[in-house]
Amino acid sequence: NTADWDVDAAEKGGYEHFMLKEIHEQPAAVRDTVSPRIINGMPDLSQDGVDMQKLKDYRQIFIVACGTAMHAGMVGKYVIEKLARKPVIVDIASEFRYRDPIITKDDLMIVISQSGETADTMAVLRLAKEVGAATLAVVNVVGSSIAREADMVIYTHAGPEISVASTKAYMVQISVMYLLAFELAYANGTIDKERCMELTAQLGQMPDIIRETLELKDTCSFVASKLVNAESLLYIGRGLDYALSMEGSLKLKEISYIHSESYAAGELKHGTISLITEGMPVIAVATQKKLIEKTVSNIREVKARGAMVILICDNSIEVGEGVADYIIRLPQTDEQLMPMAAAAPLQLIAYYTSVLKGNDVDKPRNLAKSVTVE
Ligand code: G6P
Repeated sequence: NTADWDVDAAEKGGYEHFMLKEIHEQPAAVRDTVSPRIINGMPDLSQDGVDMQKLKDYRQIFIVACGTAMHAGMVGKYVIEKLARKPVIVDIASEFRYRDPIITKDDLMIVISQSGETADTMAVLRLAKEVGAATLAVVNVVGSSIAREADMVIYTHAGPEISVASTKAYMVQISVMYLLAFELAYANGTIDKERCMELTAQLGQMPDIIRETLELKDTCSFVASKLVNAESLLYIGRGLDYALSMEGSLKLKEISYIHSESYAAGELKHGTISLITEGMPVIAVATQKKLIEKTVSNIREVKARGAMVILICDNSIEVGEGVADYIIRLPQTDEQLMPMAAAAPLQLIAYYTSVLKGNDVDKPRNLAKSVTVE
C-alpha cells in the first residue's frame, strides 16, 4: 500500500536502499566519530577513559572480532604496528576463543563490534577478562552487552545501520583504529608531535575525501556491469591494500552472491593463479607506493593469463599502458589513510553488482545483521 511505501522511502532518505543511504552517510559518520576526539590538533582518547601511557606498556595487543569488524581490525594491525611499533595479533573471534590462546594480564584485548551483541566476540571479551587482560571495546550501539562488560569503550558514531552488509560501521571502526594508532605511536615515542599532528589533520580531512570518492559512483556502477556475469573473481592487494581487499571481497559476495576471494597479491603464484581463466575479473587494490611495482607485476601475471583487471589506485600513480582494463583513481591522502579513500568505491562496486542482479540488497539471503548465536 502507498502509505507503507511512503514510510519506507522516507526512512531511506530518498535512496533506493539502506545500503546506498548508509554509504552516503559515511562522511558525516567519520566526522562525528573523529572530530570530538581531536583536541588542539592531537588525537585524544582520554575522554573515552583510555590512558595511552598505560596502553603503551601492554606486552601484546590483540584485536578480535567477526566479519567486517575483523577486517577493520586488520587495518588496525597494519597501522598500529607501522606507527606505534607494538605487536598486534588479529583474529576471528570464533577461532581465537577455542584455540587456547596465549593471553595474559599483561596484554590488551581490543574487540570491535557494530552491534555489541555478537556472541563469539562477547565470549572473547569474557575470556580476556578472566585472565586479567585489559579490555577495550570499539562499539557502535550504546549500552550494548559488549560495551557494558568491557573495561574501556570507544563508541563509534555511525548511527543506526540497517543494511545487513556493513558499510558506515566499518568506516568509523577504521577511523577509531587510526585515532588509536596515532595517539599510541606518539605516546610510545615512535612518531614525533609534528608527524602525529600531520596524520591527525589528514584524518580530520577524510570526510571530504570520502565525499569525493562517492562521486566515483558512475565508474563503480560501470565496473559492476563488467562483474555481473562472472562466476567468480579475485581481489588482490599487499599490506593495507590486502586488508582492504578482504573487506571489498566480503561485501561483494555477501550481496551479489558471486564467489569471490581476497588474496595477498604475492601469494597468488603459490596456487591461486591456477584459477585464472579468460575474462575472469581481478580487482587489484594498489594504494601503497612502496608496493605498487610489486602489485603491478602480479597484475601483469594475471593479465597474461586472460584476467580482466580493474585497478584501484591513487590518482598520482602512473601505470603503464595496458596494465589494467579499467582504472578507478582515488583522491590522494596520506598513504596510511588510503583504506578510507578506497572503501566507498569497493562498497559501491558490490552495491551496484547486487542491484544489477536484482538481489535483495539490504537483506541478503542467509545472513543476519547481528549474530547472537554461536
Ligand atoms: C554479522 C553481520 C556482519 C558483521 C558481523 C559482526 O555477520 O552480517 O556485517 O560484520 O556480524 O557483527 P558486529 O555487530 O559484531 O560488528
